[in-house]
This record gives sequence, structure tokens and C-alpha cells, in this order.
Amino acid sequence: MFAFNFNKIAMPIFYGKVALMTFLKSFNTQNKTIGFVPTMGALHQGHISLMQQSLNENDVTVVSIFVNPTQFNNPEDLLKYPRTIELDTEKIYGLNSDIAIFAPTVDDIYEGEVLSQSFDFDGLENQMEGKFRPGHFDGVGTIVKRLFEIVTPNNAYFGEKDFQQLQIVKKMTQKNQLPVTIVGCPIYREENGLAMSSRNERLTTEQREQASLIYKTITQAKELFQTKSAEEVTKWVESIFENNDTFELEYFQIADEATLLPCIEKSENNNYRAFIAVFVNNIRLIDTISLK
Ligand code: PAF
Repeated sequence: MFAFNFNKIAMPIFYGKVALMTFLKSFNTQNKTIGFVPTMGALHQGHISLMQQSLNENDVTVVSIFVNPTQFNNPEDLLKYPRTIELDTEKIYGLNSDIAIFAPTVDDIYEGEVLSQSFDFDGLENQMEGKFRPGHFDGVGTIVKRLFEIVTPNNAYFGEKDFQQLQIVKKMTQKNQLPVTIVGCPIYREENGLAMSSRNERLTTEQREQASLIYKTITQAKELFQTKSAEEVTKWVESIFENNDTFELEYFQIADEATLLPCIEKSENNNYRAFIAVFVNNIRLIDTISLK
């Protein structure tokens, strides 16, 4: 056990879906709103801001902590994904001891069949992360849909760092006519600009410092895009990473925010966004910026 420094007794952690659903039943019947923050743990300030927003906007907040195996295309990434449930629990109760934590087992969620459902996200799944992480978004769609069925939230909160995921979750919700409002929340950054991510925990102090190059580059790319084409900006970004021993650029893409299709020719009517994925010593980091 670990000591909590609170006078109030915190809500127990729900390890199984039946217990959580039983607890949430009273909120459903009393027409109270449920806010939901799905996570894979290793919580940081970005997650805390999602929880804070949910607390502000709902009668009860549920946070799930579940490292979802079906969304990992790389077994090593799944194995090395940080698992820090005790620390996570302290952070959540430190914010608010009334938050309901749902930390199910793989078996509780997948009931013996650890498989993804196949989704059609109208092509959103074929770009960027979808290209480089085959099956990833089917895994995300599967777990988010399953969690929504268990938690029955009115509002669900997702960070904009995973912007493609956010659009895909919106699409899945709309296509399945799920009665959930998907709320996108701004990216939280370290002081040096590095987007907060659970994967940052695997970086050394030096790598964390060096990784500020990612945000610096996309910020400069935003500036360049005011006067240059998407192709020119992309070439410039590629040249930044070409001779760099620390980073390996997986992709940089300027795409339409709604369709995620690459920007070939700029149009006044579209909103564009830059997306980047970079490896630092086998640790994969992503970031994004609106080019408006
Ligand atoms: O963004 C994440 O942490 C995960 O993809 C999510 C939404 C919790 C689903 O496992």
C-alpha cells in the first residue's frame, strides 16, 4: 500500500467492468453526466488537464488506465510501454479523490479474444500513423468503442497531440451513432516545447532536451508555410533531420485537418495542420501544429 495524504477517503479503484457499471448505474438513472478520460497510464500534466476539464463539465469523472494490446503494431513498444499504476493513482487522487479509476485486466476487456474489430474510418486511417502503424487504428477503435459501452459517458476527452486519433474517434462515434460528445483538448508541452507524452519517460534527460528540436522545427515550418508550398516546407523539414545522428524522421506531412489528406495545393477554404513522427533511439515521438 502507499500512503495518501488526504483526509477524505478516495473512491476505490474498479478493476472489473461489472463493478464499474454497477457504480455508474445510479448516475445513468439520475440523469447525471458522466465525463470520461481514457488513458494508457503513465500520466502527465496533459492527462491531468483532460481530467480537470472533465471535472468542470460533468457530475462524475471516470479515468481508465489500460495499456491496450491491440493498438500496438510493435511488440517491443507494448512490452516497454511504461506501467506506473501506483503513481498514476496518486496523481489522480491528488487532483480529486472523487474520480472513479477503471483499471481493467486484458481478460476483462477482451474476454479471451485479444483481437481488433475492423473499421472503416472513411480513409482517415490510411494516412500518417495508419501508414506506419498497420492495424493501430483498428485497435484504438476497438478499445474506445468497448470502453464507451462500459462507461456510457456523455463527454469523452482526448488530447490533440494524437490529432489523427481524435478525428478517428469522432468518426467512429458518428458512424456508430454513439451518444457521446468527443472533446479535443490542447497539447501540453514541457518548458522546452516537447509535447508531453507517456513515452517521454523513456528518454534520458539529454534526449528530452534534444527532443525540443521537434517542436522548434514544426513551429518554423508553420512560419515557412505562410509563403512556401507544402512540398517546399516538407523538403526543408527533411533536410533538418537528414544529417542528425540523434533523430530519425519517419514522416512529416502537411494535411487537411478534416480529411487528413496531404496538402498538394493550398486552398483558402481548408485548414491545414503539420504532423511529424520522429524516432529518438527507438522511442517514437509524434507532434502536430495547426498552420492557421
Ligand atoms: O491515446 C491513448 O492513450 C490511447 O490511444 C487510448 C485513447 C487511451 C486508447 O487506448
